[in-house]
Amino acid sequence: MNILVTGGAGYIGTHTCVELLNHGHDVVIVDNFVNSEKESIKRVEEITNKKIKFYEIDILNEKALDLVFKSNKIDAVIHFAGLKAVGESVEFPLKYYNNNITGSIVLFETMKKHNVKNIVFSSSATVYGMNNISPLTEDMPLSTTNPYGTTKMFIERILTDLYNSDNEWSIAILRYFNPIGAHPSGKIGENPKGIPNNLMPFITQVAVGKREKLSVFGNDYNTHDGTGVRDYIHVVDLAKGHLKALEYTMNTNKVEIVNLGTGKGYSVLDIIKAFEEGNNLSIPYEISERRPGDIATCFANTLKAKKILHWETKNTLLDMCKDSWRWQSNNPNGY
Ligand code: NAD
Ligand code: WQD
Repeated sequence: MNILVTGGAGYIGTHTCVELLNHGHDVVIVDNFVNSEKESIKRVEEITNKKIKFYEIDILNEKALDLVFKSNKIDAVIHFAGLKAVGESVEFPLKYYNNNITGSIVLFETMKKHNVKNIVFSSSATVYGMNNISPLTEDMPLSTTNPYGTTKMFIERILTDLYNSDNEWSIAILRYFNPIGAHPSGKIGENPKGIPNNLMPFITQVAVGKREKLSVFGNDYNTHDGTGVRDYIHVVDLAKGHLKALEYTMNTNKVEIVNLGTGKGYSVLDIIKAFEEGNNLSIPYEISERRPGDIATCFANTLKAKKILHWETKNTLLDMCKDSWRWQSNNPNGY
């Protein structure tokens, strides 16, 4: 199949493109490189020994997107393109609502116009908000604590309404938990601009000497060691989940929401320990204040993914720590 991947130059997009190409699909990437580098696409080509067609386009640009659909016979879309920094979204909500929501609407309109009605969408466990108790199931009530999360909740709703208006659509909405790790080649990985917001890239930047020490945000949560517990998922497992979701959309005409996680929770201190032991390194850290908006515990119920996508994760926490470090140590300054 010929798959249009929006945001395909980014962290999860590149790993998914590798899996798509390795499974014989063709890939067309649309990305404006606001949070990525063209080099990442070259690296995917190196890993797979295949060529990728890419367009440097903003998904808000209706005319340019229309031309992509006119020039390529697209079978399905995997929609990663979006801004994802939680703190920045609080500061610049309109930027987030415009880029993520309006951008998605432009994409869905263009798909509709060209009669492409299969889509896999990147949502987030952030839509479960602060009040649900883990393990989180897909039918729990949603709430959000920041504009980024609200964009995901709205886009989920828009896609559901779209399906309800026209059952020819086939839609998989994937709620990712905490993606970490990198392709085992060490050629592609997470490449945050500026100071990392997320735990694992911060740890790898401390390990490589770019940052002095890690701040652990709070050790007085109601968890086994007081630090926050999350469901960390290897990005390659996550990427493979997209292939299963794509297959699912090709064989059904439904809208389904599915968690992609491991179902296991690890604390910040568990992650530091696993990273240190797995890579024979020491990570200096200090305990600091809780980060506003953080919850104690968040992990997935994974039954639906197993049942309808026939997918589950394979990589261990050790794999995630080793692969994250291989990427960072091979590429101390990113791409
Ligand atoms: P990323 O920033 O690495 O990738 C997103 C890509 O989209 C980037 O290459 C960026 O340049 C591109 N992009 C952004 N706005 C665009 C626009 N208007 N037009 C064209 N391209 C645009 O992020 P990622 O970690 O790969 O995340 C991919 C998706 O998954 C995002 O939608 C994100 O919100 C979602 N998600 C990520 C996580 C996570 O922790 N990484 C968790 C849950 C959900
Ligand atoms: C994990 C744990 C922190 C950094 C975020 C988004 C979510 C989703 C995934 C997109 C927490 C602690 C972190 C640090 C720390 N993204 N931590 N020191 O917050 O679970 O989820 O990324 O959809 O929407 O909110 O991930 O990696 O930021 O934090 O102690 O320097 O690590 O408090 O317990 P989070 P994270």
